[in-house]
Amino acid sequence: MVAADITPDQTKTSRTRILHVGLGGWGGDWERNAIPPVTEVDRVAIVDAHEPTLRAAQEKLGLPDDMCFTSLTEAAKAVPAEGVVVTAPMDFHVPVALEALDAGLHVLVEKPFAGTVAEARTAVERAEELGLVLQVSQNYRFYPGPQKVRELLAAGTVGDLSVVHVDFRRWDHDAPVETYRHYQFPHPLIYDMAIHHFDLLRMTTGREAVSVYAKVTDPSWSKYTEEAAAVLVIELEGGLVCSYRGSWVSRAPETHWDGEWVFEGQDGYVTLAGRGNSGPADDEVRVGLAGGVAEAVQLPTMDVWGRSAGLRQFARAIRGGGAPDVTGRSNLGSVALMEAAARSAASGKVEPVEQVGGTVA
Ligand SMILES: NC(=O)c1ccc[n+]([C@@H]2O[C@H](COP(=O)([O-])OP(=O)(O)OC[C@H]3O[C@@H](n4cnc5c(N)ncnc54)[C@H](O)[C@@H]3O)[C@@H](O)[C@H]2O)c1
Repeated sequence: MVAADITPDQTKTSRTRILHVGLGGWGGDWERNAIPPVTEVDRVAIVDAHEPTLRAAQEKLGLPDDMCFTSLTEAAKAVPAEGVVVTAPMDFHVPVALEALDAGLHVLVEKPFAGTVAEARTAVERAEELGLVLQVSQNYRFYPGPQKVRELLAAGTVGDLSVVHVDFRRWDHDAPVETYRHYQFPHPLIYDMAIHHFDLLRMTTGREAVSVYAKVTDPSWSKYTEEAAAVLVIELEGGLVCSYRGSWVSRAPETHWDGEWVFEGQDGYVTLAGRGNSGPADDEVRVGLAGGVAEAVQLPTMDVWGRSAGLRQFARAIRGGGAPDVTGRSNLGSVALMEAAARSAASGKVEPVEQVGGTVA
């Protein structure tokens, strides 16, 4: 498949032209909230394999027929574009990415990139062969809290780290089984949610995970088909240990989406909470030194954040502005930890995390 040609004018003077694949629940939210703030992009067509979903999106967005397709191949042939944003479910991420890359289009794909490192690697290698951008939307990175924590830890503000604790708690409020799709998700905690926290753990500490032990702790009232709650022990490079407790069925007070983090170091500790529903304003980072009370630190301001910040990096990378923070390759370490955690939950054993090479981004 070959994509429709872009005229020189379309790259020099206009915004980066993107096709959007997958207009379900989260894809719709991208249209409402993530794409509009990014002035560098123009979403020139939408694609959904499910005709009724496509038509519902078309109506909501008020788009003409020639901007709406049930296949990426058709869309790419008909509409000149430079990139594709993929918000289909995980199992389709790599197949759709390969389809797009083979059409000469750059790709930005939702998390989790893929269920296995081996599958993710096929897309990474194809993008590298073709010289195209392949980016993963790890949107939790692009909030002021994690950005500040990364900076504080890299500057040695609390000295050598000894341990990181992460708590994530939500409650599904006993939604009915018939209508709440999340109950049927594969690995709803480890693949759907903890992947965000795994990625933040790598980002903030700058270290890769080397092993993981996952013990599922589902209570009797969980309606999830697979794990809704688990306790994990993650060992990172240099012997740093992370204790992770995550639950979709907790009756304790809910955390924000980032969860609650404590990074303990030789000279003090850093706490992080954030990724609330009000945007960056919910982020909070505190530093406590030498046994003192933890004080809130000033966080950077961001004009766009979350998915929009990643999308802006995508548009700039396409136009030669440097690699985005999260490339397909740099995301392999997060996929490797996710894959090993799921393996450990099934085997009941400590599982090694595949070492994917490269540097932690
Ligand atoms: N980053 C976040 O915070 C966050 C939050 C929610 C969901 N997500 C991710 O977004 C993705 C989509 O989730 P969702 O809840 O919207 O799923 P969904 O099932 O509601 O929607 C997916 C849509 O993709 C379409 N689709 C599937 N295969 C396709 C193909 N080959 N070509 C075209 N369209 C295709 C389906 O018809 C469906 O309409 C998942 O990867 C999920 O993990 C991320």
